[in-house]
Amino acid sequence: MCWVPNQPLSPPHEYLFFYQIYRRPVKYKEPEIEEQKPMKTDQYPDPAPVFPQIVTNAVSKLKNRLQEEYERTYPDLGDLVRIVLDEEEVKAWELAFPHLFLPDLVEEHISQLGANKYSTTLRQPNERQTMKNGKLAGKIAVVTGASKGIGADIAKQFAAEGAAVVVNYASSKEGADRVVDEIAKRGGKAIAVQANVAKKAEIERLFSTAKRAFGKIDILVNNAGVYDWSPLEEITEEQFHKHFDVNVLGLLLATQEAVKHFDSTGGNIINISSAVTSLTPASSSVYTGTKGAVDAITRTLAKELGPRKIRVNAINPGMVETEGVRAAGFDQGDLRKSIEAQTPLGRIGQPEDIAPVAVFLASSDSAWITGETLRVAGGLR
Ligand SMILES: NC(=O)c1ccc[n+]([C@@H]2O[C@H](COP(=O)([O-])OP(=O)(O)OC[C@H]3O[C@@H](n4cnc5c(N)ncnc54)[C@H](OP(=O)(O)O)[C@@H]3O)[C@@H](O)[C@H]2O)c1
Repeated sequence: MCWVPNQPLSPPHEYLFFYQIYRRPVKYKEPEIEEQKPMKTDQYPDPAPVFPQIVTNAVSKLKNRLQEEYERTYPDLGDLVRIVLDEEEVKAWELAFPHLFLPDLVEEHISQLGANKYSTTLRQPNERQTMKNGKLAGKIAVVTGASKGIGADIAKQFAAEGAAVVVNYASSKEGADRVVDEIAKRGGKAIAVQANVAKKAEIERLFSTAKRAFGKIDILVNNAGVYDWSPLEEITEEQFHKHFDVNVLGLLLATQEAVKHFDSTGGNIINISSAVTSLTPASSSVYTGTKGAVDAITRTLAKELGPRKIRVNAINPGMVETEGVRAAGFDQGDLRKSIEAQTPLGRIGQPEDIAPVAVFLASSDSAWITGETLRVAGGLR
């Protein structure tokens, strides 16, 4: 048997490897890999005895390298590790493990999973240790609308506390990828998954992707939201439906799907509502209407889901300086000044003011809290 490259190779070849894939005897076309036991590198099949000695040597060198990489990084299931193969190693891989993995199919495999970005997880042991001891260690969280603003910060804080995070976005792939990269650089686990929360089929794909990537789901943060204020006479049907579709229907669809995936230990839902539900500012009827619905849904679902050990709470932020707020121009001019003047703590918020509260509600520190709407607004009421 001889090896013929199907494309010219010029070292080094850099590939992304799922430990899941090369540690387990799964066929490429079978994505249901989470139930299978990981395969230790010393259990890799030996190359057929008919291989020439040079190939046997190359395969044995490759196995040693994988073993070293494994010992160096101690990957968790689902971790993705970047290693560089030289030409000989690519050849060895293709001969030894063709049924496990083909390098040029990795991208396809990733897109099959519906994720566009995976974190690399070559971590320092001390960083890893910190995350292992974090308040959300071992938890899997889906954060909707996490490509920027409040959602992005919640995703990063969750990861810093040890959770693996699904960073959902609607259109800002670049923003979501940036959040995933930041998490990965600090040793955390995250994937970015596109899905419009207002579409049931996309929500189903979001959760099935999350489950395939991380094996389970424990926490949902319903953060995705739109806000476009206008006085009564300027309200349009389109504006009404867009707001209620994303801010209310999207939250219900995501919750419906998350609940299906929670296991018998329960789950945790955090809805990002708004302080507008008590402030009721003029010219915000549609937006405030959606968040009023979010508060009511939070209390209702807390009762409905409590018996299944699922807690449901809301955070009601005051004005927070985010990309969305800047784009709407809310962070400038009279509105900001008047808010600052009425706020006991004298300033508008930053995403970092909200994320730790989400960590609190997602963690066992708040184990006996459900159905609450928690205003986080510098004292403004
Ligand atoms: N900032 C504030 O002052 C403030 C105050 C109170 C409450 N809130 C609430 O906090 C949440 C986040 O606000 P923010 O200021 O951080 O907003 P932002 O900066 O505008 O970010 C909004 C996020 O939601 C995502 N998104 C929008 N529509 C979506 C959809 N249909 N499906 C999935 N994702 C969608 C966006 O994704 P893409 O980037 O891909 O479009 C983005 O990631 C909202 O629910 C908002 O109502 C904000």
